[in-house]
Amino acid sequence: MVKKNACIFISGMGSNLRNLILRSRDYSFPIKIKLIVCNNKNALGIVYAKKNSIPYLIIDTKIRNYEYQLLHILKKNKISLICLAGYMKILSKRFIGKFGNKIVNIHPSLLPKFKGLNTFSRVLKSQEIKTGCTVHYVSEKLDSGKIISQKGFYINNSDNEKSLKEKTQKLEYKIYPEAIIKIFRYG
Ligand code: GRF
Repeated sequence: MVKKNACIFISGMGSNLRNLILRSRDYSFPIKIKLIVCNNKNALGIVYAKKNSIPYLIIDTKIRNYEYQLLHILKKNKISLICLAGYMKILSKRFIGKFGNKIVNIHPSLLPKFKGLNTFSRVLKSQEIKTGCTVHYVSEKLDSGKIISQKGFYINNSDNEKSLKEKTQKLEYKIYPEAIIKIFRYG
């Protein structure tokens, strides 16, 4: 199988990155992780890039035009898909426009509910009966692009932010790879 080159953007722990690295080792998984981009030099997730000898780039988003340089690097690496995995910086309209609909993100809620940050505390406060996670295309509006995959679970009385995060992330490790397969199978 000819794999497409992908780039994963992270800012923190990188557990989704770790999972995608493992999955991308499968012969039939459609992407090869060619590059990892990180906007935080202290991100723990960088360890997975090092351990797996995947090239990584620490970017300084304070530099004017950093996205311009980034686009150039992505082009040079023939990147067909960008997967945001806990990337905490908003991409500009221009960047999104230039990269077309080839950027996807994973969000820890059942979108369109609970866009933005602090999802678990907001889910608990609003006494939802269900929550989950969503993989979606990135559009100019935050957490609003077309949904690719979504999975949910019922919330227990004993759940708290920590348990919701654990349960959500467990589902994330399932749906992110599934969504990537879906993208390349059905476009
Ligand atoms: C994930 O839970 C994802 O939903 C959100 O950020 C978190 C990143 O976690 N966008 P990790 O860095 O993959 O562990």
